[in-house]
Amino acid sequence: MGMITIPLMIPRQERGNLRYYDFWRAIGAPKYVLAPMVDVSELPLRLFCLQNGTELCYSPMYNCKQFAALSQYRTDFFQTCPEDSPLFVQFCGDNPEIMLEAARYVENHCDAVDVNFGCPQGIAKRGHYGAFLQDEWDIMRSLVHTLHTNLKVPVTAKFRKQNDPLRTVRMAEMLRDAGAQVLCMHGRTREEKGRDAPPADWEAIRLVREALVGVPFIANGSVYTLDDAKSCLEKTKADAVMAGDGMRKQPSLFSSNPLSPFECSRQLLTFCAKYPTSHAFARDRTLQMNLKSFEIHYDLRDKLAEAHTPDEINPILDSLEERIQTGFVPDPPPPREKPEFISIDDVMEGISLFQE
Ligand SMILES: Cc1cc2nc3c(=O)[nH]c(=O)nc-3n(C[C@H](O)[C@H](O)[C@H](O)COP(=O)(O)O)c2cc1C
Repeated sequence: MGMITIPLMIPRQERGNLRYYDFWRAIGAPKYVLAPMVDVSELPLRLFCLQNGTELCYSPMYNCKQFAALSQYRTDFFQTCPEDSPLFVQFCGDNPEIMLEAARYVENHCDAVDVNFGCPQGIAKRGHYGAFLQDEWDIMRSLVHTLHTNLKVPVTAKFRKQNDPLRTVRMAEMLRDAGAQVLCMHGRTREEKGRDAPPADWEAIRLVREALVGVPFIANGSVYTLDDAKSCLEKTKADAVMAGDGMRKQPSLFSSNPLSPFECSRQLLTFCAKYPTSHAFARDRTLQMNLKSFEIHYDLRDKLAEAHTPDEINPILDSLEERIQTGFVPDPPPPREKPEFISIDDVMEGISLFQE
């Protein structure tokens, strides 16, 4: 009988110049990946995820201009610790020298630096980055090549499906040949975003994956459960699967024993207490993970809106848990104007405005 080899991580400082699948095996050949998400994929969530089924985490996207120029921006937005691994730190921008300058600040604190070629928001159009570079291959090539030839850690790239499948394959080959050691493909086009976005096109991902040889490949889009993740891996033949929206709601979705929303919230809050982030992070994650309960217990949701620290949030969770156990339901709220629907695009616009 053949021996089963379980990939083990090789410590960062002992990896030397490992490429493609050698690098992939050195970080443990991860299968389950937390997506880069602005305001979401922060250190406490990454640590939580690594304890609950996730095997590789991306940071949120950082604007390389700000990151390179402002030490306050770096301190405010980039946090890490030794347990925060494997970690890919993501940048957006269109200037290779500035992106290199930014990446140098993190190269000793991460496993790879990722370039965002996928952001479809208006902010990316105005800033000339993300998916708005997808027709400017010289810039894409130069960003990846500059990082590849100058950084101590590998460079990787995340991009979207294009309308023309062959063009997507050619673009992925170009990124690989420019030096990207891992590729991640989101199975929606630049136009497929927001409320009415269709499910991610796993078949389009499979086509690109099968045409590309020699580079570890991550499939992204429409994964909300471990079963989704397994069928995405099977259908796309990718090495790994990345989840974004699903992880905001259920960050233990890659675990074979997913935690309840309460358990997720409590565990995440312990990481938030140890590694404080912006005030809104702990509150927003708690709300997102318990959205349905807070819709019913709207008075507690109003209290949560005022809470900032784990010490302030935990008693609200205690009350919510007790009410659910005892079956208590508050009287319906007094009528008030229905808040306007806020889409992810609106959120991204809001978050990213200050990053311009
Ligand atoms: C709140 C939010 C923030 C996001 N921020 C980023 C980001 O910083 N960088 C990036 O490449 N993609 C970002 N994305 C896109 C996700 O990484 C992912 O590609 C997309 O959500 C599709 O995967 P899903 O269907 O699992 O959600 C963001 C998505 C969401 C929902």
